[in-house]
Amino acid sequence: MRCDKLYSDFDFRFLPDNGIEHDLPTNTLQLMIRVRNLYKRYGNTSVLKGLNLDVNQGEILVILGRSGVGKSVLLRQIIGIEKPDSGSIEVNGVDITQCSKNDVYKAVRNMGMLFQGAALFDSMNIEQNTAFYLRQHNDPLTKKPFEDPVIQKKVKEALATVGLQGTEHKMPSDLSGGMRKRAGLARLLVYRPSILLYDEPTTGLDPVTAQQINELIVQTQKELKGTSIVVTHDIHSAFFMADRLALHKDGKIAHVADTKTFMNFNDPMIRYLKENYTLTGSKI
Ligand SMILES: Nc1ncnc2c1ncn2[C@@H]1O[C@H](COP(=O)(O)OP(=O)(O)OP(=O)(O)O)[C@@H](O)[C@H]1O
Ligand SMILES: [Mg+2]
Repeated sequence: MRCDKLYSDFDFRFLPDNGIEHDLPTNTLQLMIRVRNLYKRYGNTSVLKGLNLDVNQGEILVILGRSGVGKSVLLRQIIGIEKPDSGSIEVNGVDITQCSKNDVYKAVRNMGMLFQGAALFDSMNIEQNTAFYLRQHNDPLTKKPFEDPVIQKKVKEALATVGLQGTEHKMPSDLSGGMRKRAGLARLLVYRPSILLYDEPTTGLDPVTAQQINELIVQTQKELKGTSIVVTHDIHSAFFMADRLALHKDGKIAHVADTKTFMNFNDPMIRYLKENYTLTGSKI
């Protein structure tokens, strides 16, 4: 499909926030992201080495992998903020690696990412940070910029959802690491993209907050009928959220499957998880 067809016929970035289940166009119900033979190197460091990955519309795919293997690099290629050296990344049938910057921008408008370090804008307070994407785009219903009271209401709700009510006028530097991460999540959720990429959403959070975030990710996924990729080291979160698990290893996705099948792959890291991780008291 040509780049200029990207989301032109149906822009489902802002599905009505009315609690009603949404019908997406039928062409989005299958494969949403298709990565083939992806290569990326920085200087002498080859990070992605012929990586393949399929993500289906409506699923939460959780990516596990050792630190430094290239999980964040992969997400950055998928959301189009970096260009791979070679290979293809089809998003809803369009290869964004072949698109102009402008057309890639059209694709990423429909995606949101929670960056590993939250990536808030230091000079903006939490309200401005959370409202950032809403201020960049028109209200799809009225085709006009969102009115200030609407933005304020949405921001307030989003912050309350992540347990940060009342922090609107604080600066990112006033918040703890975990709070900044939740503010980053609020900024993503208020935007309601249909493809959501989360880079370690629960790292650095206490277990109770981490579980709230896990539930929020699953609930958001259901509400938006979205497509989510979650990178995490937190195996409890992985099992809680995942429709499928993937192992990123040696520059490739070495294994990907439903959780039960995944745990039976003969791989040292998966064996380690199997031997050491207990879920609600019983070993996997
Ligand atoms: N912009 C960059 N310039 C140079 N090297 C980079 C760059 N971004 C990533 N790398 C290198 O790519 C490799 C993979 O990094 P990446 O951040 O994707 O790891 P990761 O799997 O996300 O690790 P972690 O679990 O610790 O977050 C690392 O060796 C890193 O140093
Ligand atoms: Mg990372």
